[in-house]
Amino acid sequence: MNDIKNCGISLSEQEKYAEKVRSLIKEKQEKSGRKLLCYITTFGCQQNEADSERLMGQAVSLGYEKTDDPESADLIIYNTCAVREHAELRALSRTGALKHLKEKNKDLIIGLWGCMVTQNHRMNDVKMSYPYVDFVAGTNMLPRLAEILCDVMVNDRRRYYVTEDVTSEITEGVPVLRENDIKAYVSIMYGCNNFCTYCVVPYVRGRERSRKKEFIIEEVKELVNSGYREITLLGQNVNSYGDKEYGFVDLLKDLCAINGDFTLRFMTSHPKDASDELIDLIAENKKLAKQFHLPMQSGSTEILRRMNRKYTAEKYIALAEKIKEKIPGVSLTTDIIVGFPGETEEDFLETYKAVEKLRFDSIFSFIYSPRKGTPAAQMEDPATKEEKTDRMSRLIALQTEISAEINKCFVGKTVSALCDTRKRLENGLYAAKTTGNKTVFFDFNGDINSVYGKNIDIKITRSTAAQLYGEYEK
Ligand code: 5AD
Ligand code: SF4
Repeated sequence: MNDIKNCGISLSEQEKYAEKVRSLIKEKQEKSGRKLLCYITTFGCQQNEADSERLMGQAVSLGYEKTDDPESADLIIYNTCAVREHAELRALSRTGALKHLKEKNKDLIIGLWGCMVTQNHRMNDVKMSYPYVDFVAGTNMLPRLAEILCDVMVNDRRRYYVTEDVTSEITEGVPVLRENDIKAYVSIMYGCNNFCTYCVVPYVRGRERSRKKEFIIEEVKELVNSGYREITLLGQNVNSYGDKEYGFVDLLKDLCAINGDFTLRFMTSHPKDASDELIDLIAENKKLAKQFHLPMQSGSTEILRRMNRKYTAEKYIALAEKIKEKIPGVSLTTDIIVGFPGETEEDFLETYKAVEKLRFDSIFSFIYSPRKGTPAAQMEDPATKEEKTDRMSRLIALQTEISAEINKCFVGKTVSALCDTRKRLENGLYAAKTTGNKTVFFDFNGDINSVYGKNIDIKITRSTAAQLYGEYEK
């Protein structure tokens, strides 16, 4: 991609820093007689994984080599998440464990990136409690790794690159090193305008902005031409991509028109914006995976109102039923928050009943985690931890039963699935993904490379709530 006009950060400006960093890295390399290594760990969602691939891309373009071993790394970046406290505590405790590495290697550069440290209070935690962290960078610094490393290497001091307003313009053309050679993430938009009252995302990722369609189409074309078979379009609310003239459905149509054998997925959809046109397109277009991730969050209209979700439970149920009816065989999945402030047993039972009725293929359920600065964190929350945990266990037990029943229906049938493993997994089998994104384990005698990256037929022989098992047919 050579046209990087109208971009947030000037990459040629970054190149000035990059040159300096490259020569410093080269010097260090010559001194030590080995390549310098970069290790990145990602916490949280697919958007973060996509960002990490761009961080690694930049690191490699500066002269680092990727490593999976933090012990031998010269640059360690933790790309953090802020959606729930659990993810934050994990990142902080893992940061604590880095102290001994810094003691062993004083040249090691440690950076914390992304959503968690974009919050002032967390940045201050890091300042106070983790003095061996060399830099902290907010989500909007993504294209500026060269500048940051230059600062750290040349000025040799701790740096905090976090700004009040994180809504930066989009920068195109940032180098990327993808984790996978057949499946790719493509961000189509950044940020969120919805301000669900529990959610920290609008504060740490800023307001919604969409990439220009030309860049997205070009990126997908390049991926397809270089052998990628599955592309997942990412955004906090992909349904609000673009504007009135050219929206998400238009983008999907243009992407589906690209020549080649590939599948498109997308996440995440907000129920208030999922249109009939979108559902019809998924139903009729072979390139679109028969999968719909549609976060419900709660089955109680009162809780949804307090969550600022802008739909009622009835509306959600009607939409989910329409999706199931119009897209035969669709895999419908959802997110649910249990124990939102003020959730009563009755509210919870409405969620439970909705899950019973809608029979999702799977659900991602979370106990509500108060997020500093969000409206819900100020709301009264009388339910006890035990009550919330109990509700969560009941919901999981119900869904496990439903998922097991749904998966059982596959037994005896032959499914087409994309073989996406090259090595035997811990269970001694290979894995493939169905159009509904279900994992199928299968055995294969012979060279796995002959089927890797291909859609293969697998006859399902047994199932669990989470997986399918089968025999390779052709
Ligand atoms: N507590 C618990 N779960 C949350 N999510 C977002 N914010 C919170 C929170 N404060 C969940 C929502 C969202 C998913 C990505 O994470 O269900 O859809
Ligand atoms: Fe958070 Fe709601 Fe935006 Fe999703 S739509 S990122 S839950 S504010």
